[in-house]
Amino acid sequence: MTAVGIDAIEIWTGKLKLDLAETFAPEKGEDPEKYTKGLGLHASSFPDAHEDIVTMGANAAHRLMERKGLTPDDVGRIDVATESAFDNSKPVSTYIAGCLESVYDEDFHHANKGERKFACIAGTQSLDDAYNWIKAGRHRGRAALVVATDTALYARGDPGEATQGAGAVAMLITEEPSLVELSTEQGYGSADETDFLKPNQQFPSVDGKRSMQVYLARMREALEDYESVAGASHPDDFAYVPFHTPFPGMVRKAAVLAYRHMIRDTPIEEALADDIGFQPREDDYEDREAYEEAIRDHMDELKSTDAYREWYDATIEPTLDISREVGNWYTGSVHIARAAALRRAADEDLELAGQRLGVGSYGSGAQAEIHAETVADGWREEIDQLNVAEQIEDRYDLSFAEYEKVHDRHNHDKSIELEEFTVPEAEFVFTGRGRMNERTYEYVE
Ligand code: HMG
Repeated sequence: MTAVGIDAIEIWTGKLKLDLAETFAPEKGEDPEKYTKGLGLHASSFPDAHEDIVTMGANAAHRLMERKGLTPDDVGRIDVATESAFDNSKPVSTYIAGCLESVYDEDFHHANKGERKFACIAGTQSLDDAYNWIKAGRHRGRAALVVATDTALYARGDPGEATQGAGAVAMLITEEPSLVELSTEQGYGSADETDFLKPNQQFPSVDGKRSMQVYLARMREALEDYESVAGASHPDDFAYVPFHTPFPGMVRKAAVLAYRHMIRDTPIEEALADDIGFQPREDDYEDREAYEEAIRDHMDELKSTDAYREWYDATIEPTLDISREVGNWYTGSVHIARAAALRRAADEDLELAGQRLGVGSYGSGAQAEIHAETVADGWREEIDQLNVAEQIEDRYDLSFAEYEKVHDRHNHDKSIELEEFTVPEAEFVFTGRGRMNERTYEYVE
């Protein structure tokens, strides 16, 4: 069977930075370590005055097309995953295609365009759609462009304010990909949940603590469902496990849960039993509450074992390198986690071709999905092209007063003018509103 997967990836971070320890914590009267150690976040990315989900997505896609030497004729499908859309009818993909058409001679008139919505998991769902389209043989040899773009803003004062972020990931999906091949096997954990939602409002209504429990419950279900088709997973199966990363502290919780599940009834559990005992089994407890308490105690002990620490440091920690500097990018979040892991492998000169990644995506509302990816021969060359480290470094560092203005600038209920903090160069910018209240853009050389 032909391999289908991600051939290339490009990342565009919002050009402004809010430092959580230096700038946010003092204003909130909080210990900076609540953010840097507790949540595991150092900074958030924000869009400059001339940026939004369209410019970030179009800029990532443009760079990807230029680097791969593509023209619009090579692309048969453009799917945008976002939960920050500003139009209930016209999809963001049409705006992004319009931007790209302004810099190419050809057009995307024969490309299928759409917009995917299911909170943060929509980015992975768009990958699925592209994969299925190519596998079904409907692509006429063309590639699919998937763009995950979000401005993850919370209302001022919401506990989620510390986890904000903004950026876009563009991915090219093809046959015989250079970066990773996607597995046919997938597992889902999906339930009607009211933990994080935006009922016709820009900023989310969030039940933060519950959202974390829902994330873990759906992820466990997805892992069980994945194993029902792919067979039992073992910690050694995966070189890296990129999870959806609203903040690294959430991934710490998901990782220990996944590890406990994967080592059950294996020699690893047996070897650890001398120190921390065997995992609690539900049948040994009178009720669910007592069992869950025993599990929590066991996981606390498991977290501090050398076996777990070594697995975590090698398999999970590298996936957090970008997220901890940029915050939650919603639909793009799991895709920057994958990129971070591959970038770390390149920095450490590891040979990854043929090894597997276990990818855990999640969206509130709520659904988790797990699939595997096999790293392709061309991964190193692809990942060496990323300039995300330079982008992160070059961001303008906001004062708290400037952050407040930027938040207002991107608040749909306020229309304030704001001078940009960075000078646009070789990028698409937001220019205002047109005759029918559509958003307008241009390319600045
Ligand atoms: P909070 O209540 O302000 O924070 O908000 P906290 O008091 O729970 O502290 C956070 C952590 O820092 C805790 O760690 C504290 O112990 C620790 P934990 O006990 O959980 O391991 N801490 C400290 N550590 C060291 N030194 C200190 C210190 N102080 C505290 N001095 C909350 C936290 C996550 C609720 C908030 O940020 C929030 O509401 N976020 C938004 C919702 C969210 O991100 N949920 C995650 C799961 S849902 C999801 O991922 C989907 C999502 O991406 C949306 C989508 O799908 O579209 C959000």
